[in-house]
Amino acid sequence: MINFTLLGAGRIGKMHAKIISGHPEANLVNVYDVNTEFASQVANDNDANIAKSPIDAINDENVDAVLIASATPTHIEYLVMSTDANKPVLCEKPIDLDIDKVNECRNKIAGSSNLIQIGFNRRFDKSHASLQQAYVNGEIGDLEKIIITSRDPSPPDLDYLNAAGGFFRDTTIHDFDLSRFILGDDPIIEISAFGDNLFDENVKIANDFDTAMFILKSKAGVLININNSRRAVYGYDQRVEIFGSKGMMISGNQTPTSIRKYTDSHTSSKEPIYNFFIERYEQAYKDQLNEFILSIKSNSKSKVTFEDGRNALILANAAYESHNNKKVVSIDFK
Ligand SMILES: NC(=O)c1ccc[n+]([C@@H]2O[C@H](COP(=O)([O-])OP(=O)(O)OC[C@H]3O[C@@H](n4cnc5c(N)ncnc54)[C@H](O)[C@@H]3O)[C@@H](O)[C@H]2O)c1
Repeated sequence: MINFTLLGAGRIGKMHAKIISGHPEANLVNVYDVNTEFASQVANDNDANIAKSPIDAINDENVDAVLIASATPTHIEYLVMSTDANKPVLCEKPIDLDIDKVNECRNKIAGSSNLIQIGFNRRFDKSHASLQQAYVNGEIGDLEKIIITSRDPSPPDLDYLNAAGGFFRDTTIHDFDLSRFILGDDPIIEISAFGDNLFDENVKIANDFDTAMFILKSKAGVLININNSRRAVYGYDQRVEIFGSKGMMISGNQTPTSIRKYTDSHTSSKEPIYNFFIERYEQAYKDQLNEFILSIKSNSKSKVTFEDGRNALILANAAYESHNNKKVVSIDFK
């Protein structure tokens, strides 16, 4: 049994608590959140203790592993605390919004063999992952294009926008990581990014984007198109296409059932697709935790490393540089 401390009991922390409690080989021991009301609610719902401080929660001798689901600016402090305590840590994305802080953290943890897994859950989605596996198996031949559509159902509120750190670093970061996941050891070398404010007032006030498109290029010449929106009236639109010399594969949107309706007003209409990430990627979040537990038990390397988290942030930063300077930006992962 792996005993967990959960740091952060907000929207995603609550979900992780439930997943830990539901896992046959995991147990939630401590919950810490600066908001004691959130902490006590999640602790009570999952038969866990409310921790007095993050350091107590991590260092507790009954705790084997840490899950960081608190606000982004807290991740590095908790990553370092967990690594100092030699407790395997599953940390939500992004590691931080500031690459200098990420590099400083990288120096601090250099040499440690502590397991760190970053929460890029989409790698664990069965459809996206089997598409990547089919490419590795040679089923689509030489890869030429990756096309990722990732659109949220509706824009977040102004408080979220002001705290999240911008569309590219908070949201597109998943798509940058998914592109790197599919490409394997073929690195991305160039990026061209466009962001726009087409429909949301709060996004305008926050000086952020509600619409974006990116073209990236890998060293082998694969072209990647990522397209994002903060609004899709039909639900959480998550599609990935890979195209190559032997064909094409699509990981499409999912609906709760496979029913198709034929009436006098519709042909082949389906139920609405899942509304947002907690429903659409429910199984991926579970499989992500499962992988983390397997890595702890088998003492094996992380499937989503600190470097993966850092590289995705480097791509997000390059995207801002491209948008701001209206130019194609070369990528340097060093
Ligand atoms: N992988 C994904 O699909 C995914 C989805 C959503 C959010 N996230 C990430 O998860 C993190 C949390 O996002 P959220 O949507 O749950 O936000 P949220 O605002 O709902 O929750 C954040 C929680 O952190 C707590 N917090 C703030 N400072 C803290 C501190 N010093 N110590 C402990 N807790 C503290 C807040 O009180 C709040 O309860 C963010 O980094 C976000 O990027 C990832």
